[in-house]
Amino acid sequence: MTDMKNTETSVSLLNNSSTDSKITLDGISIKRASKSDIDSIFNLLHLYAEKGLLLPPNRADLHQRIDTFIIAKLADKLIACASLRNFENNLFEIRSLSVSAECAGKRIGSKLVNYLLKNFNIPSGSRVFALTYRSNFFQRLGFKCVSKELFPEKIWNDCDICPKKEHCDEQAVMLITPQT
Ligand SMILES: CC(C)(COP(=O)(O)OP(=O)(O)OC[C@H]1O[C@@H](n2cnc3c(N)ncnc32)[C@H](O)[C@@H]1OP(=O)(O)O)[C@@H](O)C(=O)NCCC(=O)NCCS
Repeated sequence: MTDMKNTETSVSLLNNSSTDSKITLDGISIKRASKSDIDSIFNLLHLYAEKGLLLPPNRADLHQRIDTFIIAKLADKLIACASLRNFENNLFEIRSLSVSAECAGKRIGSKLVNYLLKNFNIPSGSRVFALTYRSNFFQRLGFKCVSKELFPEKIWNDCDICPKKEHCDEQAVMLITPQT
């Protein structure tokens, strides 16, 4: 399992909402998840799974891989999460990346990806990939679009149980971590 430094980062974000429903984004904290976050993570992932954007979450699976999750909280409410899977052989996958709809577009997703890249012990020169409908989002963070065939490990693990297996329309994106 991937090691992650037990750090907590506070991020300060400007509230750029143009509506009256104000979200005060000062005070958002990004940190590693604990078992007490499983229900909130499940609920967040479930919302996007219903829209076909993520694989349906499974509580037993979340229990098993909770150490691979980070979360963002605002006033004690979980507003975002992400997970990093270590396939060994210097191959990692960003998955379960979700930001609650009311907090979208505030760079929280970008901060979660950067947090994963910086705070897990990912060796330099590793391949970090994601399968996504938001390739622009990842490209802005330095990822490149690549062929899904590069990641047979993913196909063995998740694609077999995915309802879209035979007609997968997600884009693979990949970043190679820089030499330090
Ligand atoms: C994808 C998702 C995680 C993005 O989270 P977010 O907090 O809204 O992300 P950000 O605010 O960092 O970026 C969102 C938008 O802000 C803008 N943005 C972000 N960084 C920017 C930058 N540096 N300069 C200009 N615009 C920027 C872009 O419009 C971007 O959307 P785009 O890249 O698709 O065009 C979120 O929308 C989500 O949970 N989606 C549903 C689940 C999902 O699809 N997850 C991804 C599975 S891999």
